[in-house]
Amino acid sequence: MKPVAIGVVGCGYWGPNLVRNLRKIDHCTVKAICDVNVGRLSHVQGLYPEVEAVTDYKHFLNGIGLDAVVVATPVSQHYPLAKAALLAGKHTFIEKPMASSSAECEELVEIAKRNGVVLMVGHTFLYSFPIRKIKEIVDSGDIGEIRYINCRRLNLGLFQKDINVAWDLAPHDISIILHILNEFPSSVNCQGNAHVTAGVEDVTNISLSFRNNRFATIQSSWLEPRKVREMTIVGTRRMIVYDDLQPNEKLRVYDVRVERPPHYNTFAEFQYSYHYGDSYIPHLQQEEPLRSLSQHFVDCIQTGATPVTGGREGLELVRILEAASESLLAKGAPVGFEATRKYAQALSA
Ligand SMILES: NC(=O)c1ccc[n+]([C@@H]2O[C@H](COP(=O)([O-])OP(=O)(O)OC[C@H]3O[C@@H](n4cnc5c(N)ncnc54)[C@H](O)[C@@H]3O)[C@@H](O)[C@H]2O)c1
Repeated sequence: MKPVAIGVVGCGYWGPNLVRNLRKIDHCTVKAICDVNVGRLSHVQGLYPEVEAVTDYKHFLNGIGLDAVVVATPVSQHYPLAKAALLAGKHTFIEKPMASSSAECEELVEIAKRNGVVLMVGHTFLYSFPIRKIKEIVDSGDIGEIRYINCRRLNLGLFQKDINVAWDLAPHDISIILHILNEFPSSVNCQGNAHVTAGVEDVTNISLSFRNNRFATIQSSWLEPRKVREMTIVGTRRMIVYDDLQPNEKLRVYDVRVERPPHYNTFAEFQYSYHYGDSYIPHLQQEEPLRSLSQHFVDCIQTGATPVTGGREGLELVRILEAASESLLAKGAPVGFEATRKYAQALSA
Protein backbone atom coordinates (compact mmCIF):
# COMPACT_ATOMS: atom_id res chain seq x y z
CA MET A 1 0.00 0.00 0.00
CA LYS A 2 1.36 3.43 -0.94
CA PRO A 3 2.12 5.48 2.20
CA VAL A 4 0.03 8.59 2.71
CA ALA A 5 2.29 11.68 2.65
CA ILE A 6 1.08 14.10 5.32
CA GLY A 7 2.09 17.66 6.14
CA VAL A 8 1.27 19.43 9.41
CA VAL A 9 0.72 23.20 9.46
CA GLY A 10 1.01 24.79 12.92
CA CYS A 11 3.90 23.70 15.17
CA GLY A 12 2.88 25.48 18.37
CA TYR A 13 1.63 23.66 21.47
CA TRP A 14 -0.62 21.05 19.81
CA GLY A 15 0.80 20.44 16.31
CA PRO A 16 3.89 18.53 17.55
CA ASN A 17 1.59 16.02 19.32
CA LEU A 18 -0.09 15.30 15.99
CA VAL A 19 3.29 14.95 14.26
CA ARG A 20 4.48 12.51 16.95
CA ASN A 21 1.36 10.34 16.65
CA LEU A 22 1.09 10.41 12.85
CA ARG A 23 4.69 9.19 12.63
CA LYS A 24 3.68 6.00 14.45
CA ILE A 25 0.99 5.05 11.91
CA ASP A 26 1.78 2.38 9.32
CA HIS A 27 1.55 3.43 5.67
CA CYS A 28 1.86 7.10 6.65
CA THR A 29 4.80 9.49 6.37
CA VAL A 30 4.99 12.96 7.88
CA LYS A 31 6.80 14.57 4.99
CA ALA A 32 6.64 18.27 5.90
CA ILE A 33 5.82 20.78 8.60
CA CYS A 34 4.89 24.41 8.10
CA ASP A 35 4.76 27.41 10.46
CA VAL A 36 5.15 31.15 10.08
CA ASN A 37 7.15 31.15 13.32
CA VAL A 38 10.69 30.10 12.43
CA GLY A 39 11.55 29.37 16.06
CA ARG A 40 8.73 26.82 16.41
CA LEU A 41 9.54 25.33 13.02
CA SER A 42 13.20 24.73 13.82
CA HIS A 43 12.31 23.35 17.26
CA VAL A 44 10.08 20.65 15.73
CA GLN A 45 12.51 19.98 12.88
CA GLY A 46 15.21 19.48 15.50
CA LEU A 47 13.13 16.56 16.80
CA TYR A 48 12.55 15.07 13.33
CA PRO A 49 15.43 16.15 11.04
CA GLU A 50 14.18 14.10 8.07
CA VAL A 51 10.97 16.18 7.87
CA GLU A 52 11.02 19.14 5.47
CA ALA A 53 10.31 22.43 7.28
CA VAL A 54 8.80 25.33 5.34
CA THR A 55 7.37 28.76 6.10
CA ASP A 56 5.71 29.22 2.70
CA TYR A 57 2.26 27.59 2.76
CA LYS A 58 1.89 27.70 -1.04
CA HIS A 59 5.10 25.71 -1.45
CA PHE A 60 3.96 23.35 1.35
CA LEU A 61 0.72 22.67 -0.54
CA ASN A 62 2.04 22.46 -4.08
CA GLY A 63 5.76 21.77 -4.00
CA ILE A 64 6.20 18.75 -1.75
CA GLY A 65 3.83 16.09 -3.05
CA LEU A 66 1.55 15.86 -0.01
CA ASP A 67 -1.59 13.71 -0.09
CA ALA A 68 -3.00 15.18 3.12
CA VAL A 69 -2.75 18.25 5.34
CA VAL A 70 -3.28 18.59 9.09
CA VAL A 71 -4.24 22.08 10.27
CA ALA A 72 -3.18 22.82 13.88
CA THR A 73 -3.05 26.62 13.89
CA PRO A 74 -5.14 29.10 15.91
CA VAL A 75 -8.84 28.85 15.01
CA SER A 76 -8.95 32.07 12.96
CA GLN A 77 -6.51 30.42 10.48
CA HIS A 78 -8.40 27.12 10.14
CA TYR A 79 -10.71 28.29 7.35
CA PRO A 80 -8.19 29.94 4.97
CA LEU A 81 -5.59 27.19 5.40
CA ALA A 82 -8.09 24.29 5.15
CA LYS A 83 -9.86 25.88 2.18
CA ALA A 84 -6.58 26.19 0.27
CA ALA A 85 -5.69 22.58 1.13
CA LEU A 86 -9.08 21.23 0.02
CA LEU A 87 -8.99 23.27 -3.20
CA ALA A 88 -5.54 21.78 -3.87
CA GLY A 89 -7.15 18.33 -3.61
CA LYS A 90 -5.57 17.37 -0.27
CA HIS A 91 -7.34 15.22 2.32
CA THR A 92 -7.65 17.61 5.25
CA PHE A 93 -7.74 17.26 9.02
CA ILE A 94 -8.64 20.38 11.01
CA GLU A 95 -8.21 20.78 14.74
CA LYS A 96 -11.25 21.70 16.84
CA PRO A 97 -13.26 23.85 16.52
CA MET A 98 -13.44 23.37 12.75
CA ALA A 99 -13.66 27.11 11.88
CA SER A 100 -14.76 30.49 13.22
CA SER A 101 -18.30 30.36 11.80
CA SER A 102 -20.83 27.88 10.47
CA ALA A 103 -20.74 29.61 7.07
CA GLU A 104 -17.03 28.80 6.84
CA CYS A 105 -17.70 25.19 7.88
CA GLU A 106 -20.47 24.80 5.29
CA GLU A 107 -18.13 26.00 2.56
CA LEU A 108 -15.37 23.61 3.64
CA VAL A 109 -17.82 20.68 3.72
CA GLU A 110 -18.95 21.52 0.21
CA ILE A 111 -15.44 21.87 -1.22
CA ALA A 112 -14.40 18.53 0.30
CA LYS A 113 -17.49 16.86 -1.16
CA ARG A 114 -16.94 18.40 -4.58
CA ASN A 115 -13.26 17.38 -4.67
CA GLY A 116 -13.90 13.90 -3.26
CA VAL A 117 -11.38 14.25 -0.43
CA VAL A 118 -11.60 13.34 3.25
CA LEU A 119 -12.44 16.14 5.68
CA MET A 120 -11.96 15.22 9.33
CA VAL A 121 -12.14 17.34 12.50
CA GLY A 122 -10.15 16.87 15.72
CA HIS A 123 -12.88 15.99 18.19
CA THR A 124 -10.16 14.11 20.04
CA PHE A 125 -12.10 12.69 22.97
CA LEU A 126 -14.33 10.52 20.78
CA TYR A 127 -11.21 8.45 20.07
CA SER A 128 -10.37 7.99 23.77
CA PHE A 129 -11.05 4.75 25.62
CA PRO A 130 -13.03 6.38 28.50
CA ILE A 131 -15.51 7.93 26.05
CA ARG A 132 -15.73 4.76 23.98
CA LYS A 133 -16.51 2.83 27.19
CA ILE A 134 -19.11 5.40 28.31
CA LYS A 135 -20.79 5.15 24.91
CA GLU A 136 -20.81 1.36 25.17
CA ILE A 137 -22.35 1.44 28.68
CA VAL A 138 -24.98 4.04 27.70
CA ASP A 139 -25.93 2.23 24.49
CA SER A 140 -26.28 -1.08 26.37
CA GLY A 141 -29.08 0.53 28.42
CA ASP A 142 -27.24 -0.25 31.67
CA ILE A 143 -27.68 3.22 33.20
CA GLY A 144 -31.28 3.59 32.00
CA GLU A 145 -32.45 6.79 30.35
CA ILE A 146 -30.04 9.72 30.65
CA ARG A 147 -31.51 12.52 32.79
CA TYR A 148 -28.69 15.01 32.49
CA ILE A 149 -24.96 15.40 31.84
CA ASN A 150 -22.77 17.83 33.76
CA CYS A 151 -19.26 18.78 32.57
CA ARG A 152 -16.56 20.85 34.24
CA ARG A 153 -13.36 21.75 32.38
CA LEU A 154 -11.44 24.28 34.46
CA ASN A 155 -7.86 25.42 35.04
CA LEU A 156 -5.61 28.50 35.07
CA GLY A 157 -4.95 29.40 31.36
CA LEU A 158 -3.93 28.70 28.59
CA PHE A 159 -5.50 32.03 27.56
CA GLN A 160 -6.28 32.28 23.83
CA LYS A 161 -6.39 35.59 21.96
CA ASP A 162 -8.73 34.83 19.06
CA ILE A 163 -11.44 32.80 20.85
CA ASN A 164 -13.14 32.78 24.24
CA VAL A 165 -13.05 29.91 26.70
CA ALA A 166 -16.29 28.41 25.36
CA TRP A 167 -14.80 28.08 21.86
CA ASP A 168 -11.54 26.75 23.34
CA LEU A 169 -12.62 24.19 25.94
CA ALA A 170 -16.32 23.46 25.45
CA PRO A 171 -15.83 21.76 22.02
CA HIS A 172 -14.49 18.73 23.88
CA ASP A 173 -17.59 18.49 26.08
CA ILE A 174 -20.07 19.32 23.31
CA SER A 175 -18.62 16.65 21.00
CA ILE A 176 -18.81 14.08 23.81
CA ILE A 177 -22.40 15.05 24.74
CA LEU A 178 -23.65 14.87 21.13
CA HIS A 179 -21.93 11.52 20.69
CA ILE A 180 -23.38 10.03 23.88
CA LEU A 181 -26.91 11.36 23.41
CA ASN A 182 -26.80 10.89 19.62
CA GLU A 183 -29.04 13.91 19.32
CA PHE A 184 -28.78 17.58 18.39
CA PRO A 185 -29.99 20.05 21.08
CA SER A 186 -33.15 22.09 20.66
CA SER A 187 -31.63 25.21 22.25
CA VAL A 188 -28.58 26.61 24.01
CA ASN A 189 -28.10 29.14 26.80
CA CYS A 190 -24.76 30.66 27.68
CA GLN A 191 -23.63 33.10 30.33
CA GLY A 192 -20.10 34.27 30.96
CA ASN A 193 -17.70 37.06 31.72
CA ALA A 194 -14.43 38.50 30.41
CA HIS A 195 -12.34 39.26 33.51
CA VAL A 196 -8.82 39.46 32.10
CA THR A 197 -9.03 40.46 28.39
CA ALA A 198 -11.88 42.73 27.33
CA GLY A 199 -14.22 40.94 24.94
CA VAL A 200 -12.70 37.47 25.48
CA GLU A 201 -14.80 35.56 28.03
CA ASP A 202 -12.60 33.53 30.36
CA VAL A 203 -15.49 31.89 32.27
CA THR A 204 -18.65 30.52 30.62
CA ASN A 205 -21.58 28.30 31.56
CA ILE A 206 -23.39 26.65 28.66
CA SER A 207 -26.61 24.72 28.96
CA LEU A 208 -27.93 22.54 26.13
CA SER A 209 -31.59 21.45 26.08
CA PHE A 210 -32.63 18.17 24.48
CA ARG A 211 -35.94 16.38 23.94
CA ASN A 212 -37.75 14.74 26.87
CA ASN A 213 -36.53 17.28 29.43
CA ARG A 214 -32.94 16.15 29.11
CA PHE A 215 -30.19 18.72 29.35
CA ALA A 216 -26.43 19.10 29.62
CA THR A 217 -24.41 21.78 31.39
CA ILE A 218 -20.85 22.75 30.53
CA GLN A 219 -18.73 24.92 32.78
CA SER A 220 -15.53 26.20 31.15
CA SER A 221 -12.90 28.39 32.80
CA TRP A 222 -9.33 29.63 32.36
CA LEU A 223 -9.49 31.18 35.82
CA GLU A 224 -9.58 28.30 38.29
CA PRO A 225 -6.81 27.52 40.74
CA ARG A 226 -7.24 23.75 40.32
CA LYS A 227 -7.35 21.78 37.08
CA VAL A 228 -10.67 19.93 36.76
CA ARG A 229 -11.75 17.61 33.93
CA GLU A 230 -14.95 15.98 35.11
CA MET A 231 -18.18 14.73 33.63
CA THR A 232 -21.18 13.18 35.38
CA ILE A 233 -23.82 11.26 33.45
CA VAL A 234 -26.95 10.75 35.48
CA GLY A 235 -29.20 7.93 34.33
CA THR A 236 -32.50 6.70 35.70
CA ARG A 237 -30.84 3.46 36.92
CA ARG A 238 -27.14 4.24 37.37
CA MET A 239 -24.70 7.14 37.17
CA ILE A 240 -21.24 7.46 35.64
CA VAL A 241 -18.50 9.78 36.88
CA TYR A 242 -15.59 10.41 34.49
CA ASP A 243 -12.53 12.10 35.95
CA ASP A 244 -9.97 12.45 33.19
CA LEU A 245 -7.22 13.50 35.61
CA GLN A 246 -7.19 10.13 37.35
CA PRO A 247 -4.28 8.13 35.97
CA ASN A 248 -5.94 4.71 36.09
CA GLU A 249 -9.46 4.85 37.49
CA LYS A 250 -10.95 7.43 35.15
CA LEU A 251 -14.47 5.96 35.15
CA ARG A 252 -16.68 4.90 38.01
CA VAL A 253 -20.19 3.54 37.55
CA TYR A 254 -22.45 4.03 40.58
CA ASP A 255 -25.44 1.80 41.15
CA VAL A 256 -27.45 4.56 42.84
CA ARG A 257 -30.82 6.10 42.11
CA VAL A 258 -33.76 7.83 43.74
CA GLU A 259 -37.32 6.70 43.10
CA ARG A 260 -40.70 8.09 44.03
CA PRO A 261 -43.41 5.72 45.22
CA PRO A 262 -45.75 4.98 42.29
CA HIS A 263 -48.81 6.13 44.29
CA TYR A 264 -49.68 7.14 47.85
CA ASN A 265 -52.79 8.35 49.63
CA THR A 266 -51.47 10.56 52.42
CA PHE A 267 -48.35 12.65 52.81
CA ALA A 268 -47.32 10.39 55.70
CA GLU A 269 -47.18 7.40 53.32
CA PHE A 270 -44.99 9.28 50.85
CA GLN A 271 -41.32 8.25 50.96
CA TYR A 272 -38.56 8.52 48.40
CA SER A 273 -36.69 5.29 47.93
CA TYR A 274 -32.91 5.65 47.77
CA HIS A 275 -31.10 2.77 46.14
CA TYR A 276 -27.42 2.24 47.02
CA GLY A 277 -25.73 -0.62 45.19
CA ASP A 278 -22.12 -1.42 44.33
CA SER A 279 -20.00 0.91 42.27
CA TYR A 280 -17.42 -0.44 39.84
CA ILE A 281 -14.46 0.79 37.84
CA PRO A 282 -14.51 -0.39 34.22
CA HIS A 283 -11.22 -1.61 32.79
CA LEU A 284 -9.88 0.72 30.12
CA GLN A 285 -7.24 0.09 27.50
CA GLN A 286 -4.37 2.58 27.64
CA GLU A 287 -3.73 4.33 24.35
CA GLU A 288 -3.27 7.98 23.51
CA PRO A 289 -6.49 9.18 21.79
CA LEU A 290 -4.37 11.00 19.21
CA ARG A 291 -2.96 7.65 18.12
CA SER A 292 -6.45 6.24 17.33
CA LEU A 293 -7.45 9.55 15.76
CA SER A 294 -4.35 9.56 13.52
CA GLN A 295 -4.99 5.95 12.52
CA HIS A 296 -8.62 6.80 11.70
CA PHE A 297 -7.61 9.71 9.46
CA VAL A 298 -5.17 7.52 7.51
CA ASP A 299 -7.74 4.67 7.31
CA CYS A 300 -10.40 7.04 5.93
CA ILE A 301 -7.96 8.30 3.28
CA GLN A 302 -7.01 4.76 2.26
CA THR A 303 -10.47 3.17 2.33
CA GLY A 304 -12.70 6.14 1.46
CA ALA A 305 -14.64 5.64 4.73
CA THR A 306 -16.49 8.60 6.23
CA PRO A 307 -14.74 9.89 9.38
CA VAL A 308 -16.55 9.48 12.71
CA THR A 309 -15.78 13.17 13.27
CA GLY A 310 -16.15 14.59 9.77
CA GLY A 311 -17.14 17.98 8.40
CA ARG A 312 -20.78 17.51 9.37
CA GLU A 313 -19.90 16.91 13.02
CA GLY A 314 -17.50 19.88 12.91
CA LEU A 315 -20.25 22.09 11.48
CA GLU A 316 -22.81 20.96 14.09
CA LEU A 317 -20.40 21.79 16.88
CA VAL A 318 -19.63 25.24 15.48
CA ARG A 319 -23.37 25.94 15.16
CA ILE A 320 -23.71 25.26 18.88
CA LEU A 321 -20.76 27.54 19.68
CA GLU A 322 -22.25 30.28 17.51
CA ALA A 323 -25.56 29.95 19.32
CA ALA A 324 -23.69 30.08 22.63
CA SER A 325 -22.04 33.34 21.54
CA GLU A 326 -25.43 34.73 20.52
CA SER A 327 -26.89 33.76 23.89
CA LEU A 328 -23.90 35.33 25.69
CA LEU A 329 -24.67 38.65 24.01
CA ALA A 330 -28.31 38.27 25.08
CA LYS A 331 -27.25 37.62 28.72
CA GLY A 332 -28.10 33.92 28.63
CA ALA A 333 -31.39 34.02 26.72
CA PRO A 334 -32.11 30.71 24.94
CA VAL A 335 -31.20 30.42 21.26
CA GLY A 336 -33.17 27.78 19.32
CA PHE A 337 -31.99 25.36 16.65
CA GLU A 338 -34.89 24.48 14.38
CA ALA A 339 -33.09 25.64 11.24
CA THR A 340 -29.89 23.89 12.21
CA ARG A 341 -31.57 20.52 12.60
CA LYS A 342 -33.13 20.81 9.17
CA TYR A 343 -29.74 21.75 7.74
CA ALA A 344 -28.00 18.81 9.42
CA GLN A 345 -30.66 16.44 8.06
CA ALA A 346 -30.25 17.87 4.57
CA LEU A 347 -26.49 17.44 4.78
CA SER A 348 -26.70 13.81 5.81
CA ALA A 349 -29.28 13.01 3.09
N1 LIG B 1 -7.74 18.39 20.32
C1 LIG B 1 -7.20 18.90 21.39
O1 LIG B 1 -7.26 18.31 22.48
C2 LIG B 1 -6.48 20.22 21.31
C3 LIG B 1 -5.68 20.67 22.35
C4 LIG B 1 -5.02 21.89 22.20
C5 LIG B 1 -5.20 22.65 21.06
N2 LIG B 1 -6.01 22.18 20.08
C6 LIG B 1 -6.24 22.97 18.85
O2 LIG B 1 -5.04 23.00 18.11
C7 LIG B 1 -4.93 24.23 17.40
C8 LIG B 1 -3.61 24.90 17.74
O3 LIG B 1 -3.60 25.23 19.10
P1 LIG B 1 -2.22 25.54 19.86
O4 LIG B 1 -2.55 25.59 21.30
O5 LIG B 1 -1.16 24.59 19.39
O6 LIG B 1 -1.89 26.99 19.32
P2 LIG B 1 -0.47 27.70 19.33
O7 LIG B 1 -0.74 29.15 19.24
O8 LIG B 1 0.40 27.17 20.43
O9 LIG B 1 0.21 27.20 17.96
C9 LIG B 1 -0.28 27.57 16.71
C10 LIG B 1 0.90 27.62 15.71
O10 LIG B 1 0.36 27.94 14.42
C11 LIG B 1 1.26 28.86 13.79
N3 LIG B 1 0.52 29.63 12.77
C12 LIG B 1 -0.41 30.58 12.97
N4 LIG B 1 -0.88 31.02 11.78
C13 LIG B 1 -0.24 30.32 10.82
C14 LIG B 1 -0.29 30.31 9.39
N5 LIG B 1 -1.13 31.12 8.73
N6 LIG B 1 0.52 29.47 8.74
C15 LIG B 1 1.37 28.65 9.39
N7 LIG B 1 1.46 28.61 10.75
C16 LIG B 1 0.67 29.44 11.44
C17 LIG B 1 1.77 29.73 14.92
O11 LIG B 1 2.98 30.35 14.57
C18 LIG B 1 1.93 28.72 16.05
O12 LIG B 1 3.23 28.14 16.08
C19 LIG B 1 -6.17 25.06 17.80
O13 LIG B 1 -7.16 24.86 16.84
C20 LIG B 1 -6.60 24.41 19.12
O14 LIG B 1 -7.99 24.56 19.36
C21 LIG B 1 -6.63 20.99 20.17
